[in-house]
Amino acid sequence: MTRLRAATYNQPAFTPFLPESAITQEVAARAAELQSRALKELSTVSDAEGLEAWRVAYLGRKSEVTLLKRSITDVPPGDRREFGQAANAVGEALASAFEQRRADIERPGTKDSDALDVTLPGRPSRIGSIHPITSTVREICAAFGEMGFGVVEGPEVELDHYNFEKLNIPRHHPARDSFNTLWIDKTGDDGERPLLLRTHTSPMQIRTMERQEPPVRVIVPGKVYRYEATDATHEWHFQQIEGLAVDEGVTFADLKGTLYEFARRMFGAERKVRFRCDFFPFVEPGVDMSIDCFKCGGEGCRICGDTGWIEILGAGMVHPNVLEGVGYDPQRYTGFAFGVGIERICMIKHGIDDIRLFYANDLRFLRQF
Ligand code: DAH
Repeated sequence: MTRLRAATYNQPAFTPFLPESAITQEVAARAAELQSRALKELSTVSDAEGLEAWRVAYLGRKSEVTLLKRSITDVPPGDRREFGQAANAVGEALASAFEQRRADIERPGTKDSDALDVTLPGRPSRIGSIHPITSTVREICAAFGEMGFGVVEGPEVELDHYNFEKLNIPRHHPARDSFNTLWIDKTGDDGERPLLLRTHTSPMQIRTMERQEPPVRVIVPGKVYRYEATDATHEWHFQQIEGLAVDEGVTFADLKGTLYEFARRMFGAERKVRFRCDFFPFVEPGVDMSIDCFKCGGEGCRICGDTGWIEILGAGMVHPNVLEGVGYDPQRYTGFAFGVGIERICMIKHGIDDIRLFYANDLRFLRQF
């Protein structure tokens, strides 16, 4: 017996392969048409009432499916078994589509009228935040900016000439040992390596003075690099802000006043400031500056290492050799310079105890800022 696929077959649940008798074919076509019409109508039903009306029309006792099943009497006896199966398949397909539609309609929020609830609050999109080091740089720049300092930046791959030589640190000078330098692997004609990753922002003092005549008043934020094993207080790269002021009649009192004001803005008006002698080849005299510990108020604690003081920067009066080296007359001009470690300031401000957190990209840390 040849079998025909019903012409209007379009639902996987209905696969009537019916005998090739004319009557049976007609009934099969009706079945297929009924199924597709019923499903199409069902898809437009959107509430419980419509759903019930659809059920009565297609699945109820006097429904079209029931009539279809009854039309088995029109089918030649030899084909009845197969026809019966096909008619049942239509009934089952519609019943399962009905259940599915009912579940959809009863699920809250899926009725067409509920699908868009404009009164619901929107989903907030997560907004990133400024990295704590960046905001510290900005804060420091703003503090000095209000005191009349401009901002300049310089190269991170620097010449030995600017990083050391012109800062009064000649080759083979022991002061070089205090900088754990990362050299660029390229030797010049003299057999020496001329390039390095700058170990501090101080070379920009020279580059700035070479470019202009006094008065000079700049700060230089930027990254610096050291050949350093990392631990809670050391990173092989970190950030500094350099400061330089040169003019006629600049004195150590200006240095103190400027840095005192900086400390007051960053750490509060009640902070005490302490200067002690220190050595940096490019200044004379050189100092380091500390603030009294904001945690213990000077009594001694873990943060200040039991000293009551926290060192925050190095500074000094620009060495006459440095001024001379850029063509400034050291008899006429004097100046002060300072270098601040940004991470240190940020750690002190926020009570952060490990410098490595700044560069670990751990969002649990970063989202706190
Ligand atoms: N460049 C120094 C360092 O990295 C810090 C410093 C000290 C900068 C004294 C200065 C200064 O300008 O006057 O250790």
